[in-house]
Amino acid sequence: MSKPAPSTYPINEVIAHRWSPRAFLDKPVEKEKILSFLEAARWAASSYGVQPWSYIIATKDDPENFAKLVSVLVPFNQSWAANAPVLLLSLAQTVNAEGKPNSHALHDTGAASAQLSIQAAALGLQAHQMSGFDAAEAKKVFALPEGVEAVAAIAVGYAGDPETLPDFLKERELAERGRKPLSEFVFTGKYGEVSPLVV
Ligand SMILES: Cc1cc2nc3c(=O)[nH]c(=O)nc-3n(C[C@H](O)[C@H](O)[C@H](O)COP(=O)(O)O)c2cc1C
Repeated sequence: MSKPAPSTYPINEVIAHRWSPRAFLDKPVEKEKILSFLEAARWAASSYGVQPWSYIIATKDDPENFAKLVSVLVPFNQSWAANAPVLLLSLAQTVNAEGKPNSHALHDTGAASAQLSIQAAALGLQAHQMSGFDAAEAKKVFALPEGVEAVAAIAVGYAGDPETLPDFLKERELAERGRKPLSEFVFTGKYGEVSPLVV
């Protein structure tokens, strides 16, 4: 299944084809593809080049570690993400070893995960990011050190058949994709003043 973005202006085809499915094929992801989408995250830009992100990953054929990742998801996300062949949890080092906060750690970790998602789409996979997880539980389950925070869970796999989903999720899977127009978020001079470039 494919759900290209009906973009107003031309965008890169891979970006257009990235989307967030909840139905996944029961098919493992090849190791080279896993390494490739992780490599894409690795090459994200970061403030001062500090690369504050890290990832916990588990594939379905590693049941113990996969179950640990499923266990920190909220029940709604467990209901579909447990069927994905690969789960990840992105982490951000928000405080460095000297105790100095990194105010852009979340930004940079999000950028790394965006690159991961786009690379996944380029490989014929899709990545579905999730904020629906228990961050405090994740801290315990994965023994996160001080200064390292869980940011987002991510399910990765080949998009599957929406018919395998319960009705309410099937509807969302098949719904049209949409976004705010540029005029709602591109400003000039001050917040809320729409840039003439986008009207
Ligand atoms: C940081 C982040 C958190 C999200 N959390 C969830 C979530 O907990 N559960 C879920 O089903 N989808 C979640 N999503 C998916 C969004 O709902 C989805 O990206 C959005 O509706 C746009 O759809 P698209 O990715 O197909 O373009 C999340 C996406 C992001 C980027």
